Amino acid sequence: MINKVSVRTLKKIKDNNEKFSMLTAYDYSTAKYLDAAGIDVVLIGDSLAMTALGYESTNCIGIDEMTIFTRAVAKGVQRAMVVTDMPFMSYTVDIPSALTNIGNMVKNGANAVKLEGCNDYIAKLIECTINMGVPVMGHIGFTPQSQNVIGGHIIQGKTEEAAEILLKQAKRLEKAGAFSIVLEMVPENVARVITQEISIPTISCGAGRYCDGFVMVCDDLFGKFDSFTPKFARKYGDMKTLITESAQRYIQDIKNGDYPNENEVY
Ligand code: KIV
Repeated sequence: MINKVSVRTLKKIKDNNEKFSMLTAYDYSTAKYLDAAGIDVVLIGDSLAMTALGYESTNCIGIDEMTIFTRAVAKGVQRAMVVTDMPFMSYTVDIPSALTNIGNMVKNGANAVKLEGCNDYIAKLIECTINMGVPVMGHIGFTPQSQNVIGGHIIQGKTEEAAEILLKQAKRLEKAGAFSIVLEMVPENVARVITQEISIPTISCGAGRYCDGFVMVCDDLFGKFDSFTPKFARKYGDMKTLITESAQRYIQDIKNGDYPNENEVY
């Protein structure tokens, strides 16, 4: 019997002063391998707008596309918690349409959803989402869906005042019922204080070493996406070279008449 990762598992990890891992996944087989490797949380991040679909920003992806990727990833996962990013405009228009969109992700296999930002509306939406039976992961600091308002990929919480606001936001998300919070591009001393001050797990996305969990975009980890790599991403593989060289060898084998050989025909 598989011990499925739940909101309780992640809270226990924090309470025991341990760490958990989270990675994005965008397709069935990658999700299956990440799950088998022991990843605790698999995120269908809206980063797939850029990494898998080649769009310019995360704001270009719609709810229908996120649903397809959620279904594919969820089918590959048995143990990890499956979290789906609610895409731009799918949860900010009004609460009824947000709840319909969120419920739809759960019907397609998500165990929880991630919502960016923190204001009165988001706090209310978190409460309604939890009442509907869906756990919510918060996301503050740099929030890519608001990058046009922020004015670019800018580190958040650098001044004392900005750090104070982040801490207040984290406490507000906790009060609203979020089960964890992604802190993106936040100085590590600020993330450390937030992690100490709230009882739910924090997840570092370029927020240093002292959070309870850590997340990376899988294409950065695999060395597959080469358009832009943030400072905090660590490359563990070189899939770009693997794919390119495999394709080159295949092309060469066809040209040489080596593919297919006698064992590869009917
Ligand atoms: O979209 C994404 O991949 C994300 C994570 C990197 C936190 O939101």
